[in-house]
Amino acid sequence: MRDSERAGPDRFGRWMRDLRISVTDRCNFRCRYCMPREVFGADHAFLDRAELLTFEEITRLVRAFSRQGVRKIRLTGGEPLLRRQLEKLVAMLTGVDGIDDVALTTNASLLAAKAQPLRDAGLSRVTVSLDSLDQDRFARISDTRVPLAEVLRGIAAADQVGLTPIKVNTVVKRGMNDGADILELAEFGREHGYVVRFIEYMDVGTTNGWRMSDVVPAREIVERLHAAWPVAPVDPDYPGEVAQRYRYLDGRGEVGIIASVTEPFCRTCTRARLSAQGELFTCLFAARGHDLRALVRGEVDDAELERRIEAIWGRRTDRYSELRTAETTNRPKVEMSYIGG
Ligand code: GTP
Ligand code: 5AD
Ligand code: SF4
Ligand code: SF4
Repeated sequence: MRDSERAGPDRFGRWMRDLRISVTDRCNFRCRYCMPREVFGADHAFLDRAELLTFEEITRLVRAFSRQGVRKIRLTGGEPLLRRQLEKLVAMLTGVDGIDDVALTTNASLLAAKAQPLRDAGLSRVTVSLDSLDQDRFARISDTRVPLAEVLRGIAAADQVGLTPIKVNTVVKRGMNDGADILELAEFGREHGYVVRFIEYMDVGTTNGWRMSDVVPAREIVERLHAAWPVAPVDPDYPGEVAQRYRYLDGRGEVGIIASVTEPFCRTCTRARLSAQGELFTCLFAARGHDLRALVRGEVDDAELERRIEAIWGRRTDRYSELRTAETTNRPKVEMSYIGG
């Protein structure tokens, strides 16, 4: 598709390329930095089934987004594998013209049984969230009864069926997993050929009590890696990649750092996000989304749907991470479990 045939860029010249779709706001983990149990406990009101976009509605929206320039889809949650028959959605999305990458971000607790059906449906690859390889710390951080061994079994299954390159996302938080975990996870990646990416802890949502002093700067993480196994920077895989890539000089693969706090990447942000109930968010830190479900459940035709999406993107001026201050941290923001990482 030529640029002239698709939607224009936003106010800062950024095109829309990626769409991250949350398929459920539920999760079977309660990671303290994402869904603390005090807030997301037994009385939390999760979305009713009828409020979720159906697979047909998601697919219709993805068709509209792909005509506006989206090429990459990432399915997220909450935990996306809690959505029944997710592989059906994957098959529907891989069939949409223009979409060339459908990936999944998951905690891997349910992946062992799902890896093969997802692969058969055309899923390209998985990214697994994992913050420790120590059973006790894993249980404390993720606040779940699912054994770490089950997560590892899920990752191995994904590897076996070719959902590769497998990436492992590790949120690093001061005092949580900034000790032995960093090198243990890096070593795990080196051994198995997985790309581990260390993520600076961010002030997403309003429930995790974020403080700047909780952030372990990317620089510090790279220095620790480099001291154990020398690394050198590598060029990005594609323009606007969020992770900075490093390769191990001994040839044992690569590792990534996502410096969303100390080195924000808003300038090249091509990501749109769709919540499980069909709101379009143009930034991870937005307070509100734009209701597309009302449109898909209403009378509008595809051309009008596309015009609305184009107009929302065209007005976009988001660059939260470049403007972050102590004051912005306390602003109302959507929860990450609601729109996905
Ligand atoms: P690839 O397609 O594999 O390159 O995926 P990705 O780099 O988009 O990575 P992924 O979806 O795994 O995102 C990794 C993490 O980076 C997320 O969990 C977030 O913590 C952070 N992140 C991703 N996108 C954004 C963004 O637009 N803004 C900010 N501030 N952080 C982001
Ligand atoms: N800061 C950084 N990353 C986060 N994630 C969830 N909450 C945060 C946060 N506060 C990450 C998870 C997962 C993805 C969905 O988002 O680790 O990889
Ligand atoms: Fe669930 Fe992922 Fe949030 Fe943890 S970070 S609670 S696994 S959605
Ligand atoms: Fe994009 Fe918002 Fe993240 Fe900046 S803070 S990179 S604009 S999602």
